[in-house]
Amino acid sequence: MEAKRAAAELAVELLQDGMTVGLGTGSTVYYSIQAIGRKVANGLSIRAVATSVRSEMLAKELDIPMIPFSEVEEIDMTIDGADEADPEWNLIKGGGGALLREKIVADASKQLIIVVDESKLVQRLGRFPLPVEVVPFGFELTQRKLRRLGCEPKLRMSDSQLYMTDNGNYMMDCEFDSIAQPGRLSEELHRIPGVVEHGLFVGMASQVIVGRLDGTAYTLD
Ligand code: A5P
Repeated sequence: MEAKRAAAELAVELLQDGMTVGLGTGSTVYYSIQAIGRKVANGLSIRAVATSVRSEMLAKELDIPMIPFSEVEEIDMTIDGADEADPEWNLIKGGGGALLREKIVADASKQLIIVVDESKLVQRLGRFPLPVEVVPFGFELTQRKLRRLGCEPKLRMSDSQLYMTDNGNYMMDCEFDSIAQPGRLSEELHRIPGVVEHGLFVGMASQVIVGRLDGTAYTLD
Protein backbone atom coordinates (compact mmCIF):
# COMPACT_ATOMS: atom_id res chain seq x y z
CA MET A 1 0.00 0.00 0.00
CA GLU A 2 2.78 2.46 0.89
CA ALA A 3 4.60 1.63 -2.36
CA LYS A 4 1.50 2.32 -4.45
CA ARG A 5 0.80 5.52 -2.59
CA ALA A 6 4.38 6.75 -3.00
CA ALA A 7 4.37 6.28 -6.79
CA ALA A 8 0.87 7.67 -7.16
CA GLU A 9 1.61 10.81 -5.16
CA LEU A 10 4.94 11.51 -6.88
CA ALA A 11 3.17 11.49 -10.26
CA VAL A 12 0.69 14.10 -9.08
CA GLU A 13 3.60 16.49 -8.44
CA LEU A 14 3.95 16.72 -12.24
CA LEU A 15 0.54 18.36 -12.68
CA GLN A 16 0.33 22.06 -13.45
CA ASP A 17 -2.41 24.66 -13.50
CA GLY A 18 -4.49 24.68 -16.66
CA MET A 19 -3.85 21.05 -17.59
CA THR A 20 -6.41 18.61 -18.91
CA VAL A 21 -5.68 15.41 -16.99
CA GLY A 22 -6.57 11.79 -17.72
CA LEU A 23 -7.44 9.72 -14.66
CA GLY A 24 -6.58 6.04 -14.94
CA THR A 25 -8.14 3.13 -13.09
CA GLY A 26 -7.03 0.82 -10.30
CA SER A 27 -5.82 0.63 -6.74
CA THR A 28 -2.61 2.63 -7.40
CA VAL A 29 -4.23 5.48 -9.30
CA TYR A 30 -6.79 5.60 -6.50
CA TYR A 31 -4.09 7.36 -4.44
CA SER A 32 -3.31 9.73 -7.31
CA ILE A 33 -6.96 10.72 -7.57
CA GLN A 34 -7.10 11.29 -3.81
CA ALA A 35 -3.97 13.48 -4.02
CA ILE A 36 -5.41 15.41 -7.00
CA GLY A 37 -8.57 16.00 -4.94
CA ARG A 38 -6.45 17.50 -2.15
CA LYS A 39 -4.54 19.71 -4.59
CA VAL A 40 -7.75 20.91 -6.24
CA ALA A 41 -9.14 21.78 -2.80
CA ASN A 42 -5.96 23.83 -2.27
CA GLY A 43 -6.35 25.73 -5.53
CA LEU A 44 -4.90 23.60 -8.35
CA SER A 45 -6.86 24.44 -11.48
CA ILE A 46 -7.24 21.44 -13.78
CA ARG A 47 -10.02 19.60 -15.57
CA ALA A 48 -10.10 15.84 -15.85
CA VAL A 49 -11.46 12.94 -17.88
CA ALA A 50 -11.82 9.45 -16.44
CA THR A 51 -11.05 6.03 -17.89
CA SER A 52 -13.78 4.22 -15.98
CA VAL A 53 -17.08 4.74 -14.24
CA ARG A 54 -15.30 3.88 -10.96
CA SER A 55 -12.64 6.60 -11.34
CA GLU A 56 -15.20 9.13 -12.50
CA MET A 57 -17.34 8.55 -9.41
CA LEU A 58 -14.32 8.91 -7.11
CA ALA A 59 -13.22 12.12 -8.85
CA LYS A 60 -16.70 13.61 -8.58
CA GLU A 61 -16.85 12.77 -4.86
CA LEU A 62 -13.61 14.72 -4.46
CA ASP A 63 -14.95 17.70 -6.45
CA ILE A 64 -12.36 17.34 -9.21
CA PRO A 65 -13.79 19.26 -12.23
CA MET A 66 -14.70 16.66 -14.87
CA ILE A 67 -15.38 17.10 -18.56
CA PRO A 68 -16.90 14.55 -20.93
CA PHE A 69 -14.40 12.85 -23.22
CA SER A 70 -16.37 14.12 -26.22
CA GLU A 71 -15.29 17.67 -25.34
CA VAL A 72 -11.60 16.82 -25.13
CA GLU A 73 -9.26 17.60 -28.00
CA GLU A 74 -6.01 16.75 -26.30
CA ILE A 75 -5.07 15.57 -22.83
CA ASP A 76 -1.91 17.08 -21.35
CA MET A 77 -1.10 14.28 -18.94
CA THR A 78 -2.67 10.96 -17.97
CA ILE A 79 -1.74 9.12 -14.79
CA ASP A 80 -2.50 5.42 -14.87
CA GLY A 81 -1.42 2.13 -13.32
CA ALA A 82 -0.19 -1.08 -14.93
CA ASP A 83 -0.11 -4.78 -14.19
CA GLU A 84 3.40 -5.22 -15.60
CA ALA A 85 6.12 -2.92 -16.97
CA ASP A 86 9.25 -4.10 -18.80
CA PRO A 87 12.61 -2.27 -19.08
CA GLU A 88 11.45 -0.61 -22.36
CA TRP A 89 8.35 0.71 -20.53
CA ASN A 90 6.05 -1.61 -22.47
CA LEU A 91 3.07 -2.50 -20.34
CA ILE A 92 0.34 -4.99 -19.63
CA LYS A 93 -2.81 -3.23 -18.47
CA GLY A 94 -6.43 -4.15 -17.99
CA GLY A 95 -6.38 -6.19 -14.80
CA GLY A 96 -9.04 -3.78 -13.56
CA GLY A 97 -11.05 -4.19 -16.76
CA ALA A 98 -10.70 -0.64 -18.11
CA LEU A 99 -8.11 -1.20 -20.85
CA LEU A 100 -10.17 0.06 -23.80
CA ARG A 101 -10.96 3.47 -22.34
CA GLU A 102 -7.46 3.58 -20.87
CA LYS A 103 -5.95 3.07 -24.30
CA ILE A 104 -8.22 5.65 -25.96
CA VAL A 105 -7.31 8.19 -23.26
CA ALA A 106 -3.59 7.29 -23.37
CA ASP A 107 -3.57 7.69 -27.14
CA ALA A 108 -5.08 11.17 -26.79
CA SER A 109 -2.50 12.18 -24.16
CA LYS A 110 0.70 14.13 -24.69
CA GLN A 111 2.20 12.31 -21.70
CA LEU A 112 1.28 8.98 -20.13
CA ILE A 113 2.68 8.65 -16.61
CA ILE A 114 2.56 5.11 -15.26
CA VAL A 115 2.51 4.46 -11.52
CA VAL A 116 3.43 1.02 -10.19
CA ASP A 117 4.96 -0.67 -7.18
CA GLU A 118 8.16 -2.68 -7.62
CA SER A 119 6.31 -6.00 -7.89
CA LYS A 120 5.05 -4.91 -11.34
CA LEU A 121 8.54 -4.66 -12.87
CA VAL A 122 9.45 -7.61 -15.09
CA GLN A 123 12.25 -8.38 -17.54
CA ARG A 124 9.74 -9.74 -20.04
CA LEU A 125 5.96 -9.22 -20.17
CA GLY A 126 3.54 -12.14 -19.88
CA ARG A 127 3.62 -13.52 -16.38
CA PHE A 128 0.41 -11.56 -15.78
CA PRO A 129 -2.39 -12.94 -18.02
CA LEU A 130 -2.95 -10.48 -20.88
CA PRO A 131 -6.48 -9.01 -20.76
CA VAL A 132 -8.20 -8.93 -24.15
CA GLU A 133 -11.60 -7.23 -24.53
CA VAL A 134 -13.87 -9.11 -26.95
CA VAL A 135 -17.38 -8.54 -28.28
CA PRO A 136 -19.98 -10.95 -26.87
CA PHE A 137 -21.09 -11.98 -30.39
CA GLY A 138 -19.18 -15.12 -31.36
CA PHE A 139 -16.88 -14.98 -28.35
CA GLU A 140 -16.35 -18.77 -28.50
CA LEU A 141 -14.81 -18.40 -31.98
CA THR A 142 -12.70 -15.47 -30.80
CA GLN A 143 -11.52 -17.59 -27.89
CA ARG A 144 -10.40 -20.36 -30.27
CA LYS A 145 -8.54 -17.84 -32.43
CA LEU A 146 -6.80 -16.42 -29.37
CA ARG A 147 -5.73 -19.93 -28.35
CA ARG A 148 -4.01 -20.33 -31.72
CA LEU A 149 -1.71 -17.45 -30.77
CA GLY A 150 -0.22 -19.71 -28.10
CA CYS A 151 -2.12 -18.75 -24.97
CA GLU A 152 -4.82 -20.14 -22.74
CA PRO A 153 -7.66 -17.57 -22.86
CA LYS A 154 -9.97 -17.62 -19.84
CA LEU A 155 -13.26 -15.79 -19.90
CA ARG A 156 -13.25 -13.42 -16.92
CA MET A 157 -15.97 -14.01 -14.33
CA SER A 158 -17.23 -11.78 -11.54
CA ASP A 159 -19.34 -13.22 -8.71
CA SER A 160 -20.05 -16.31 -10.85
CA GLN A 161 -21.42 -14.09 -13.65
CA LEU A 162 -19.65 -13.26 -16.89
CA TYR A 163 -17.62 -10.11 -16.29
CA MET A 164 -18.82 -7.21 -18.43
CA THR A 165 -16.69 -4.14 -19.19
CA ASP A 166 -17.95 -0.54 -19.00
CA ASN A 167 -18.41 -0.90 -22.78
CA GLY A 168 -20.66 -3.98 -22.61
CA ASN A 169 -17.98 -6.42 -23.75
CA TYR A 170 -16.41 -9.57 -22.28
CA MET A 171 -12.82 -9.94 -21.12
CA MET A 172 -10.50 -12.86 -21.90
CA ASP A 173 -7.45 -13.21 -19.65
CA CYS A 174 -4.83 -14.83 -21.87
CA GLU A 175 -2.05 -16.81 -20.20
CA PHE A 176 1.05 -16.54 -22.38
CA ASP A 177 3.66 -16.97 -19.59
CA SER A 178 6.15 -14.98 -21.65
CA ILE A 179 5.65 -12.48 -24.49
CA ALA A 180 8.85 -12.23 -26.54
CA GLN A 181 7.60 -9.64 -29.07
CA PRO A 182 4.85 -7.43 -27.64
CA GLY A 183 4.61 -5.28 -30.80
CA ARG A 184 4.12 -8.30 -33.02
CA LEU A 185 1.56 -9.87 -30.69
CA SER A 186 -0.33 -6.58 -30.62
CA GLU A 187 -0.64 -6.66 -34.41
CA GLU A 188 -1.73 -10.31 -34.40
CA LEU A 189 -4.42 -9.63 -31.81
CA HIS A 190 -5.78 -6.73 -33.84
CA ARG A 191 -6.24 -9.06 -36.82
CA ILE A 192 -8.89 -11.07 -34.94
CA PRO A 193 -12.27 -9.44 -35.75
CA GLY A 194 -13.90 -10.21 -32.37
CA VAL A 195 -11.09 -8.50 -30.46
CA VAL A 196 -12.01 -4.94 -29.54
CA GLU A 197 -8.69 -4.07 -27.86
CA HIS A 198 -6.01 -5.69 -25.74
CA GLY A 199 -3.93 -4.73 -22.72
CA LEU A 200 -0.50 -4.46 -24.38
CA PHE A 201 0.61 -0.82 -24.31
CA VAL A 202 3.68 -0.80 -26.52
CA GLY A 203 5.74 2.40 -26.71
CA MET A 204 2.98 4.48 -25.12
CA ALA A 205 4.38 5.33 -21.67
CA SER A 206 6.29 8.60 -21.25
CA GLN A 207 7.51 7.79 -17.75
CA VAL A 208 7.21 4.93 -15.26
CA ILE A 209 7.21 5.92 -11.59
CA VAL A 210 7.96 3.07 -9.19
CA GLY A 211 7.02 2.98 -5.51
CA ARG A 212 9.08 1.14 -2.92
CA LEU A 213 7.79 -0.58 0.20
CA ASP A 214 9.55 1.99 2.38
CA GLY A 215 7.26 4.69 0.98
CA THR A 216 9.76 6.28 -1.41
CA ALA A 217 9.43 6.38 -5.20
CA TYR A 218 11.68 6.84 -8.23
CA THR A 219 11.43 7.24 -11.99
CA LEU A 220 12.50 4.25 -14.09
CA ASP A 221 15.48 5.06 -16.39
C1 A5P B 1 -7.18 -1.18 -15.09
O1 A5P B 1 -7.88 -1.70 -16.15
C2 A5P B 1 -5.75 -1.51 -15.20
O2 A5P B 1 -5.12 -1.23 -16.38
C3 A5P B 1 -4.96 -0.97 -14.03
O3 A5P B 1 -4.33 0.23 -14.33
C4 A5P B 1 -3.98 -2.01 -13.69
O4 A5P B 1 -4.69 -3.21 -13.57
C5 A5P B 1 -3.25 -1.70 -12.39
O5 A5P B 1 -4.14 -1.75 -11.33
P1 A5P B 1 -3.64 -1.69 -9.85
O6 A5P B 1 -3.02 -0.35 -9.67
O7 A5P B 1 -4.88 -1.89 -9.04
O8 A5P B 1 -2.66 -2.80 -9.65
